[in-house]
Amino acid sequence: MLNIVLFGAPGAGKGTQAARLVGKYGLGHISTGEVIRDEIARSTPMGVSMEGYIARGELAPDELVIDMVADYIARRKNPVGNIFDGFPRTVRQAEEFDKLMQRHSTPVDFMLSLEVPEDVLAERLLLRGRDSGRADDSDEQVIRNRIRIYHEVTEVVARYYDAQNKYVAVDGTGTVGEIEARICAVVDKYL
Ligand code: AP5
Ligand code: MG
Repeated sequence: MLNIVLFGAPGAGKGTQAARLVGKYGLGHISTGEVIRDEIARSTPMGVSMEGYIARGELAPDELVIDMVADYIARRKNPVGNIFDGFPRTVRQAEEFDKLMQRHSTPVDFMLSLEVPEDVLAERLLLRGRDSGRADDSDEQVIRNRIRIYHEVTEVVARYYDAQNKYVAVDGTGTVGEIEARICAVVDKYL
């Protein structure tokens, strides 16, 4: 069983590459951002409570996101393993996640970090905002806020995994296929 934390700034390509990995290896996948957008779209109580955070480009409260992942792990028992996309995003989330995975005897194998320069990130997200209309992509200020919060709060999570010798950086620039090949070279080593 392979449990991968897929890490990177907003627009780094986590969702794009996660879909490729699901297709190639049959891994399960949870994107906490997608779960939140789905809750908002269905106007559930949780969705309503999260709407403001997403609209401002801020992180949702740790407890809510941790519960979301705990629920996923309890329900989805994929024997191949899982990709955690956009989670954990704070040190607190990473610590709680470790405890959770220990309880299930399914520790995180490694964090795969997609490294992309900031100007490329903003460009990708603005482009998507124009095409798909994702609410948090349509305003450049909100995009900048998401990237700022990534640097202030989330980036240190990489060090948390590095301290456990579980941090792997991958160049996230180039075509989707080129990046996929780099990621698969890493995954194949662990399988
Ligand atoms: P989330 O949904 O995780 O958004 P994000 O981290 O801002 O990242 P994105 O999904 O925008 O980017 P991505 O890395 O998946 O890249 P993608 O493949 O889409 O989170 C949204 C919000 O939810 C957060 O702001 C927060 O409020 C909340 N949240 C989520 N998780 C949380 C947590 N753990 N704790 C607290 N709050 C949480 O690609 C981006 C674009 O680039 C696409 O248009 C794609 O087509 C394009 N693209 C991808 N690869 C390439 C390439 N190689 N070349 C050219 N274009 C490319
Ligand atoms: Mg995503």
